[in-house]
Amino acid sequence: MRNKIVFYLNGQRKEASAKEASMMLADYLRYEQGLTGTKIVCAEGDCGACSVLRYFPHVDGKDAQNYLPINSCITLVAGLDGSSLVTVDALKEKDELHETQKAMVECHGSQCGFCTPGFVMTITGLVEEKLASKETSINEQEAKNCMTGNLCRCTGYKPIIDAALNIDLTKCQGLKERFYSEKQEVDLIKAFSESVLIESDDFFYFAPKTLKEALNFLKDYPDTKIIASATDLGVVHNKRKITLNRLLSLHLMQEMYQIEQKGNEIKFGARVTHTEFRHFMKDKLPEFSNYLDIFASPQIKNIATVIGNIANASPIGDTPPAFLALDATVCVIGPKGEREIPITKFFLAYRKTALENGELITAVKFNIPQKSSSVRFYKNSNRKDLDISAVNFAIRVDWKDDTKKEIKDIALAAGGMAAIPLRLTKTENYLKSHFDIEGAVKELHSEFTPLSDVRASSTYRRILVENFFRSFFNEMGGVQ
Ligand SMILES: Cc1cc2nc3c(=O)[nH]c(=O)nc-3n(C[C@H](O)[C@H](O)[C@H](O)COP(=O)(O)OP(=O)(O)OC[C@H]3O[C@@H](n4cnc5c(N)ncnc54)[C@H](O)[C@@H]3O)c2cc1C
Ligand code: FES
Ligand code: FES
Repeated sequence: MRNKIVFYLNGQRKEASAKEASMMLADYLRYEQGLTGTKIVCAEGDCGACSVLRYFPHVDGKDAQNYLPINSCITLVAGLDGSSLVTVDALKEKDELHETQKAMVECHGSQCGFCTPGFVMTITGLVEEKLASKETSINEQEAKNCMTGNLCRCTGYKPIIDAALNIDLTKCQGLKERFYSEKQEVDLIKAFSESVLIESDDFFYFAPKTLKEALNFLKDYPDTKIIASATDLGVVHNKRKITLNRLLSLHLMQEMYQIEQKGNEIKFGARVTHTEFRHFMKDKLPEFSNYLDIFASPQIKNIATVIGNIANASPIGDTPPAFLALDATVCVIGPKGEREIPITKFFLAYRKTALENGELITAVKFNIPQKSSSVRFYKNSNRKDLDISAVNFAIRVDWKDDTKKEIKDIALAAGGMAAIPLRLTKTENYLKSHFDIEGAVKELHSEFTPLSDVRASSTYRRILVENFFRSFFNEMGGVQ
């Protein structure tokens, strides 16, 4: 049993016991390591000033093979077990700036400079991706997309985008060559062979190798919080609404990283990130992949788990309506053994799920709709990128035939319209027997009790869902 978190920081091996492991990475870097290049501005994952690059060698996914940007302000040091990190402080090599830094200087990409280290790190993340795929240029859309998780309050985006476009990729050396070695890999893989238990008066953290150990721990310590990547939990912790002091992490179980297709069925484990899921779905259900383009930011997607989004049970979480429309199944294990919960029965009340004491989610599975089916996922938020939805809406229709005039089966789901993500069964049943959109719209409105809040008024939410619903059928050929 290990009693320390092991990771590499700018090529140096680090071990963290309770005090450091319980800190947010940004605080650890600045106050424990004196690496003050990383800035803390919002402390809730929104501005990107704290971005660092992380490589995690334990997953097979092709997308995980690079150093990827993550937000250090909401990532617990404990959550970095087995990672290799690079911070902005180490980018410069002797007196030579990194090509990203040079381009920022040449294009005047920095004004007050507070956001600059974060931009440098996310752009360097894009450079890493380009080097890995042996591409030799960055286009404007790629530059803009990579920066959706970074804010510059001086509104200096144009020179920052110019900087990304002006990087000479042929002169860039990959970070793995500089900061990662086979010796490190052996060390990190070896570290992953043992469970971790860190105990102190105010921090108790267990990362087991097996589900049996996890379940025993949950039985012995029922007030334990399961932690995935903490992009939800870390924000709440930083706002001092909860304390992350008794935690169970599933990150040492290799099976939790699995994502596979068997026949028509996709199954993915509790540690699969949005970035991995998005890439996996690209050719299998492109609608899901495209929908995740506007989920959070690259920094969040690179670490946050899809199952964390489901377990979090937010009424406006973006993936629950999609999984509701796909009739997904939540695979759970607990003291009474394994069970499968249809996702339609998973969300019980505001932030309350069907998980019983001592249970955890191991995987989620669903069938890919047939080619002849139509699937659309919609999201509305005040800003296109990095914003929480006011409303999200998902629809799947299995047609009787290619004319798309008769419905064989339909699933409708919405978020932001009630205390839980909803399946709209009354409207579904109506449409199965009457293919009449105006009548269905009336049914639709009878299924909601939306709130008015800072994101949208109740009336606006109703209008949005109706418009999403109508636009789907208009797209299908204006069915009357
Ligand atoms: C800046 C920012 C932007 C965001 N944007 C979006 C967005 O656009 N759309 C959106 O929907 N969400 C968004 N989120 C929310 C968050 O990123 C997602 O919900 C994410 O998927 C959570 O995953 P995680 O691994 O970080 O979960 P964690 O924070 O680690 O956990 C979330 C919850 O799930 C529970 N949990 C995790 N794994 C399990 C398991 N295996 N079994 C049982 N319980 C478990 C935890 O106990 C906790 O209650 C955003 C968050 C931030 C900070
Ligand atoms: S400090 Fe703003 S995202 Fe971390
Ligand atoms: S340069 Fe000032 S916030 Fe970006």
